[in-house]
Amino acid sequence: MKGPRVTGPQGTAAPQQRGVEKSGRVWHSIRAELTLTLWGLVLLTALMVFLVLAIMFDAYLTSTHQHSTEILSRRFGIPPQQFEQVLQEAGIRADAALKLSLTRGEEGRFFLFLLGVTLLLPSLLAWWSSRRFARPLTQLSRAAHLLTSGDFSARVSLNKSLERREDETALLLKDFNQMAASLERLEQERRYTLAAIAHELRTPVTVLRGRLEGVRDGVLAASPGELEKLLGHADLLGKLIEDLQLLSLAEAGELRLERQHFVVQDLLKRVGGDFTAKAEGQHIGLHLDLALEPVWVNGDPQRLYQVLGNVLGNALRHTPPHGNIRIQLRVDAQHLTIEVEDSGPGFTSEALSRAFERFYRSPDRGRQSGGSGLGLALSKSLIEAHGGQIELFNSPSGACVRITLGMA
Ligand SMILES: Nc1ncnc2c1ncn2[C@@H]1O[C@H](COP(=O)(O)OP(=O)(O)OP(=O)(O)O)[C@@H](O)[C@H]1O
Ligand SMILES: [Mg+2]
Repeated sequence: MKGPRVTGPQGTAAPQQRGVEKSGRVWHSIRAELTLTLWGLVLLTALMVFLVLAIMFDAYLTSTHQHSTEILSRRFGIPPQQFEQVLQEAGIRADAALKLSLTRGEEGRFFLFLLGVTLLLPSLLAWWSSRRFARPLTQLSRAAHLLTSGDFSARVSLNKSLERREDETALLLKDFNQMAASLERLEQERRYTLAAIAHELRTPVTVLRGRLEGVRDGVLAASPGELEKLLGHADLLGKLIEDLQLLSLAEAGELRLERQHFVVQDLLKRVGGDFTAKAEGQHIGLHLDLALEPVWVNGDPQRLYQVLGNVLGNALRHTPPHGNIRIQLRVDAQHLTIEVEDSGPGFTSEALSRAFERFYRSPDRGRQSGGSGLGLALSKSLIEAHGGQIELFNSPSGACVRITLGMA
């Protein structure tokens, strides 16, 4: 049977070989141990069979001997004890003669042949089955070694039979490959995030530095307007660092929420109020559709404000003048749902699938517009830290963000 192969980068066979073959400690391999165990079992079984056969054969000879002695003694009229003595004096023993003929004659050779076959066939079977069992594990061990040494592209390549199988070995190999794929994805994400952070920080720092140098060299005047611009860049930098810190804390499960019981309508009214001036400035109608009864929630009002602020900020940015934004609160037995729906163009299909990724932002949302693409990633982490859910979808009027939280 052809077993799995380990593939390293670009699907080539693993360059490094560890364990059995490499160290030369053949007798410490799973395969060798399995072969020895199976072979030992076969040997033991064969010995047992021969022991039983030998006992049966001896019993058969003894009874034949007694029977023939009785017949002969009756025929010659001699009592059996005397006949036995006569035979012994003549040096004849029926069973000894028989045994001699069996070990020296044709039957003896046949017996030896049978013994050989009895040992050889199971030995071959033991070798084949130990190879079949041990091979996937050996391959798995090599792939795991590659993985631990930092090669995240290492996989165990499965042949068709293993692909189809659903037994423990096949599942183990498939799960290993899945785990390796997840690790590879995480590693790629980590590298991408590091590169993105470096990029995001570099831009405002470069701008700040350039302008400060201009002021120092007298190329730019240190006017209040110029200083305001510099402060704006410093604020952007500060927001980015704060968002990053919050995001990493939330993703690591280390974010401490300052939970309290409060009425969710109060929070929604506060956010709505804070954005009213901006909405009016853009000629956008901001409507709050809140359930009448006070709805209590147990959460961190500051973090929930941050989420709603980002969602509302996004909606205002995408809604054209004279459009509308609706904030709606609904409740059922256990949950409350907040929907923020705008009348803009809606999420692009790319944004629908990627908007929760760190640093994802639409191409028109440049760095100078103040967006880093962390808003929805952070919102998701904060809502999940509250045990809730956040979803994006397009409604008939535009984009809609739905936040679901448990009730207090
Ligand atoms: N209401 C909306 N309508 C259409 N697209 C949206 C809407 N809200 C978000 N998006 C898309 O999702 C992207 C990610 O949003 P997110 O809030 O994470 O980042 P951002 O607003 O660009 O930057 P930041 O929130 O960090 O200031 C946006 O760049 C935009 O492409
Ligand atoms: Mg945003």
